[in-house]
Amino acid sequence: MTPEDAASVPSTAPETPPAAAARPAAPAIPPAALTAPVITVTAVTGLPEIGPGSDLPALLASVLAPGGPPPGGAPPGGTPSPRAPLAPRSAGETVPLDAAGGGSAPSLRDGDIVVVTSKVVSKAEGRISALPREQAIEAETVRVVASRGDTTIAQTRHGLVLAAAGVDASNTAPGTVVLLPEDPDESARRLRKALRDRAGVTVGVVITDTMGRPWRAGQTDAAIGAAGVVPARDHRGETDSFGNTLEVTVAAVADEIAAAADLVKGKTRQIPVAVVRGLAEFVTDGDGPGARALIRPAGEDMFRLGSADVPLARRTIRSFTGQPVDAGAVRRAIATALTAPAPHHSEPWRFVILSSPAARSALLDAMLQAWIADLRRGGFTEEQIARRTRRGEALRKAPLIVVPCLETSAAHSYPDERRSRAERDMFVVSMGAAVQNLLIALAVEGLGSAWISSTLFCQDVAARAMDLPAGWQPMGAIAVGHPAESPRPRPGREVKEFTLVR
Ligand SMILES: Cc1cc2nc3c(=O)[nH]c(=O)nc-3n(C[C@H](O)[C@H](O)[C@H](O)COP(=O)(O)O)c2cc1C
Repeated sequence: MTPEDAASVPSTAPETPPAAAARPAAPAIPPAALTAPVITVTAVTGLPEIGPGSDLPALLASVLAPGGPPPGGAPPGGTPSPRAPLAPRSAGETVPLDAAGGGSAPSLRDGDIVVVTSKVVSKAEGRISALPREQAIEAETVRVVASRGDTTIAQTRHGLVLAAAGVDASNTAPGTVVLLPEDPDESARRLRKALRDRAGVTVGVVITDTMGRPWRAGQTDAAIGAAGVVPARDHRGETDSFGNTLEVTVAAVADEIAAAADLVKGKTRQIPVAVVRGLAEFVTDGDGPGARALIRPAGEDMFRLGSADVPLARRTIRSFTGQPVDAGAVRRAIATALTAPAPHHSEPWRFVILSSPAARSALLDAMLQAWIADLRRGGFTEEQIARRTRRGEALRKAPLIVVPCLETSAAHSYPDERRSRAERDMFVVSMGAAVQNLLIALAVEGLGSAWISSTLFCQDVAARAMDLPAGWQPMGAIAVGHPAESPRPRPGREVKEFTLVR
């Protein structure tokens, strides 16, 4: 067995089945099984330690080139083989490779896929920082998705979401950290071009990094850069063996290749490169869209809000599109509201959903009359009144209004004003907590909202207009709809200015 064979991982059953005698009754082999595809994943050893200034494209081409690297392996520091550039070879021709300084590499062919750990790409590109790890993570982060203890899951400007924004303190000199390549797709294109120019082969290149999965234990490698590889195979519209049309299946081919290569590379083995053979159908002549194509657009991300983002997702939105509001989303948001803390194990929260235009007009018209009456009593002129009452458009134009109501029958009675007021305050703050829950849950559903005081100032009128049960006290009104405006930037607030520590 050659070193190449020893490091190979066949991904499917070998082409030659075990001896027939070993099987009591050999089942009929379906025709497809006879032509079952086989891929091999082969570690490439013999590369020198890669560091800043290493010419990785030339170095890889040197190790993977006809005749292999110069005697003693590729030189430290990444100086390319003196033989490079090599004459291009004709398409389909096998490129024989020698062992390099005790290392091994497969005979690179057209259609092979060279898989490279991003760490060595970063090192060669000088993406090493002397910043303290936390600062480096902050500099690489465009969005913190979640954090717990020392662990931060962050989105980088590439759109990747991964632990520590891809900043890695392992396998680098003490006091330094390695950042992700500046543009991993571009790095992949450069490597591919070098292999084409110097070794004359058309191969795919995948650059990988290790990622955790939120719902699965352990990590696997995924593609963060790719060139000349179909990043995803779309099966949508195809039919399965039962004739059902596949509606969602898109195979993340580049990620699967990255994960397969990790089986022979591995952190502890210090093997940063592998070659995957047998997947020529995914290798393209052009560079293609790269691994960027595997980044899910924000609009399709069902888990867009990380745990750190959820409370921040709520902003007051006062203008809405005409798109109707999904009743299920509102029901789910009310269910979240009903988890608010409340005094005496009471459940003092009620909600009125005004979904029909008639119900909304009945409330808003009645409130308008009450407001005008209040303003007249306050001595305002008719012109001032007209100007003031033009406000409140958010409720008038909202596709849906939810009126939160407080029900205080569980409140305790006290003979004195002080305790009675404290008792009422407890119920009011519980209502505030429920409404905040509601607004956040609406935001998580992609809905904007504005909590408007309105009904608080004319509770009796509002209760009559909505024909509320006795004891339901309206606590404002919430305009709900799909946002037609971007939320304003949130003012920065310094925690210590709002906090006393005693
Ligand atoms: C009890 C309450 C009553 C409010 N009443 C009104 C209102 O009458 N009109 C309005 O435009 N916004 C109203 N708001 C929304 C605030 O103006 C809004 O929360 C504030 O501007 C901060 O913006 P943010 O919610 O996006 O953080 C009210 C908010 C609360 C909590």
